[in-house]
Amino acid sequence: MIKGKQIVVGITGGIAAYKAADLVRQFRKRDAAVDVIMTRNAQHFVTPLTFQTISGHPVFTDLFGNYQPEISHIALADKADILIIAPATANIIAKIASGLADDLLSTVALATTAPLLIAPAMNTKMWENPITQDNVKKLKERTITIVDPSTGELACGYEGKGRLAEIEDIVDKTLDILTPKDLHGERILITAGPTHEPIDPIRMLTNRSSGKMGYALAEASYRRGAEVMLVTGPTTLMPLDHIHTIRVTNAFEMDKAVSKHYKSCSIVIKAAAVSDYRPKKSFREKVKKTHKTLTLELERNPDILYKMGKNKGSRFLVGFAAETKNLISQAKSKLDRKNLDLIVVNHALQNDGGFGSDSNEVTLIDYEGKVETLPRLKKTELADKILDTIKAVKAEKKATAGQKKATDSAVKRKNR
Ligand SMILES: Cc1cc2nc3c(=O)[nH]c(=O)nc-3n(C[C@H](O)[C@H](O)[C@H](O)COP(=O)(O)O)c2cc1C
Repeated sequence: MIKGKQIVVGITGGIAAYKAADLVRQFRKRDAAVDVIMTRNAQHFVTPLTFQTISGHPVFTDLFGNYQPEISHIALADKADILIIAPATANIIAKIASGLADDLLSTVALATTAPLLIAPAMNTKMWENPITQDNVKKLKERTITIVDPSTGELACGYEGKGRLAEIEDIVDKTLDILTPKDLHGERILITAGPTHEPIDPIRMLTNRSSGKMGYALAEASYRRGAEVMLVTGPTTLMPLDHIHTIRVTNAFEMDKAVSKHYKSCSIVIKAAAVSDYRPKKSFREKVKKTHKTLTLELERNPDILYKMGKNKGSRFLVGFAAETKNLISQAKSKLDRKNLDLIVVNHALQNDGGFGSDSNEVTLIDYEGKVETLPRLKKTELADKILDTIKAVKAEKKATAGQKKATDSAVKRKNR
């Protein structure tokens, strides 16, 4: 979602200046264009060359500098989709709060209409000083986003609040600010991960799903303004902040959790790989290797997606399929059988089959049979692509339903 965006990163004179290198790297990794402005004092801590190398552009340091190609402070302010100052000294915070513009960074900050994100970092006493606190309050009141410093051991030897927030949190906040809230008003139920069907207290029947696709969808939906509910099987993934998450172990628990929350949702995305079967008998004690062969009898688990399709109402229902042959025809048949609006299918034998990996190659098929094959994408990017398609197909469906309603009433009126 920040691919192609123009990010301007301002770096000021604090010990944490070196951490901004990772921040710039994170944005470049996501294909955003980054321009860096360093204050004179920031250059005591890190050289512009570091940031020139990481951003791929010359670094701006001087309000009156002769840059090639020529670029003014106003042009920098205008081209920015966002201005991020990290680390921000007490000094730059005070300057912005007072409207001072006495160097390149403070001038760009005053001249830009782009969102401003400030990540302060300083000695605890400087941070707690009522003057700094007043300045921070002033900025917050002007809808400038502050990513508060964290608490811990500081480079100056103090212990307390003042450490630059985690780079990951600054990146997350940036993504949040730059992402249009186009799913606002939607309530999305997402399932993720595998299920564990117990054989005995130690063994189970499961599959290779990591949950990464479902988690990426949950995160992207939340960022795009939707209210998200995640029902997840056992995974090793970090819990997602701000997302209401229900943890389940087996197919029965997943069925129960999904049934409970299904009614209140407008979109349901079933990315979980639920075991089709479970052992008919789950042993209370560990099964010992006393027999030469052992037969496990399996029975069918509830078909959660089928049940949801039957009671779909006006909800938009999305299923996933991993197939080993006849991908399109198998997926189309699943889409019809389960009354889905969209199905996402991938080849379970190609490359790594998408399992556990950070990327996948999928084909999307909608309820009208329209097929779109996507290139291999990171699951985070794929999540946004899937959400884009859901939005488009849902809108199309609504428009078609509206037209049909209008035609039906016209026919009714004519027949009266
Ligand atoms: C070694 C050293 C470390 C400093 N670390 C910080 C810091 O982390 N945060 C801060 O607000 N000021 C810090 N300062 C003070 C600033 O560098 C100083 O206020 C300076 O005027 C900031 O200039 P700038 O905001 O234009 O970059 C430090 C100063 C020195 C000498």
